[in-house]
Amino acid sequence: MATCTFWIDGKQYQAEEGMNLVDAAKENGVFIPSLCYFKHIDPPLGTCRTCTCKINGRHDPACTAFVKEGLKVEVNTPELLDMRKALIEMMFAEGNHFCPACEKSGNCDLQHMGYELGISTSRFPHLFKDRLIDYQPKRMIMEHNRCIKCRRCVEEVFTKDGKRVFMYINRGNETQVGIDYGQEAKLSEQEAENAMKLCPTGAIIVRGKSLSQPFGDRKFDLESTQQHFRHTITEKPKVANFEKKTIATVSLAGCFGCHMSLLDIDTDLLDIVELVSFNKSPLTDIKNFTQRCHLGLVEGGCCNDENIETLKKFREMCDILVVMGECAVWGGLPAMRNTIPLGECLEEAYLNSVTSEKGENTVPYHEDLPKILDRVYACNEIVKVDYTIPGCPPSANHIWKVVHGLLWGEDYSLLYSEFKYD
Ligand code: SF4
Ligand code: SF4
Ligand code: FES
Repeated sequence: MATCTFWIDGKQYQAEEGMNLVDAAKENGVFIPSLCYFKHIDPPLGTCRTCTCKINGRHDPACTAFVKEGLKVEVNTPELLDMRKALIEMMFAEGNHFCPACEKSGNCDLQHMGYELGISTSRFPHLFKDRLIDYQPKRMIMEHNRCIKCRRCVEEVFTKDGKRVFMYINRGNETQVGIDYGQEAKLSEQEAENAMKLCPTGAIIVRGKSLSQPFGDRKFDLESTQQHFRHTITEKPKVANFEKKTIATVSLAGCFGCHMSLLDIDTDLLDIVELVSFNKSPLTDIKNFTQRCHLGLVEGGCCNDENIETLKKFREMCDILVVMGECAVWGGLPAMRNTIPLGECLEEAYLNSVTSEKGENTVPYHEDLPKILDRVYACNEIVKVDYTIPGCPPSANHIWKVVHGLLWGEDYSLLYSEFKYD
């Protein structure tokens, strides 16, 4: 086929005429984010819109476009970058994506795209829908809370005699992927595994197979697909004109992992102690504020009324409020209970769990105990939050770089590997 010349963001490139635009851009070193696009599905699905670019002046998905002579494409304008981020954020808010507890973590295209686009939190409220987790299929588990309706499985998974295994059911907002149990049972072990790999999220899980890859060997463990990928935030303080600052920290509905991460900085902690002093914090065991602080670091969201009171006090006493870790940013793992009514959660925990005393019929209650809230709230639902540090937990270096940057205000870059947690 003939070679043609086309343009991306004002730069001239060449590719084979008729080549898919996402692939042609990639071949020329330009990253166009994509999610539902799968090279072998022809025609391309075009369902997720993550790859939307301006193509000859129109907003169109790049994965359904083909290069031709003189094609003009805009990829990285602020408007397009923000729109793509918004689309991915919506997917995270619409489903229940608890990555640290997900079998697909590290091999998940949706999670990877979140990292690639530098998404640290969603601007949309999480819906916490309670969708079916279907254990009926013979080899698979269908986790409908993670499905992004990309249609890959519907179009690509067939039995040897050509029967469809997955299909869309219901309509509009209620659309979901159905599974034909009879046909699924005919799939070989390998075919079932292929379906799991084809799914860009952790919606299709094969029993006994999904956690077989160790950390470090998973698909997205090593590198960003974008060269020189960095998030610019802030740089180390110029110690020459530094003034010692005061920090407070607290753990609300979290596991204390973020605080453990704070300590992971090991001997560098000695340098930090020269730069900052700690006020109220589990690290100092100072239980009440003794002065106003320059910066407050909060781990965990709010699951009871005491958490809310503490968080409000932090907001009042700290000039800059930073929330660190997934639980503080949007609820994290404790928010897994948000899809289940509180009464059922308490019954499960105190009356019906395997560790409950036989015949137990009391859910603990005392006026001195903090009152449990109807659901777990992210910190920004309760008070104004100035900055968020994502991760479960964020690494020690990341936390301290952010703190340094905010307190002494200079820019530095955060490497992809420092921004990536799963
Ligand atoms: S499907 Fe992907 S994005 Fe969703 S919880 Fe699993 S790893 Fe995270
Ligand atoms: S189950 Fe997976 S492959 Fe199928 S539509 Fe949902 S996200 Fe796509
Ligand atoms: S990757 Fe192009 S529409 Fe999904």
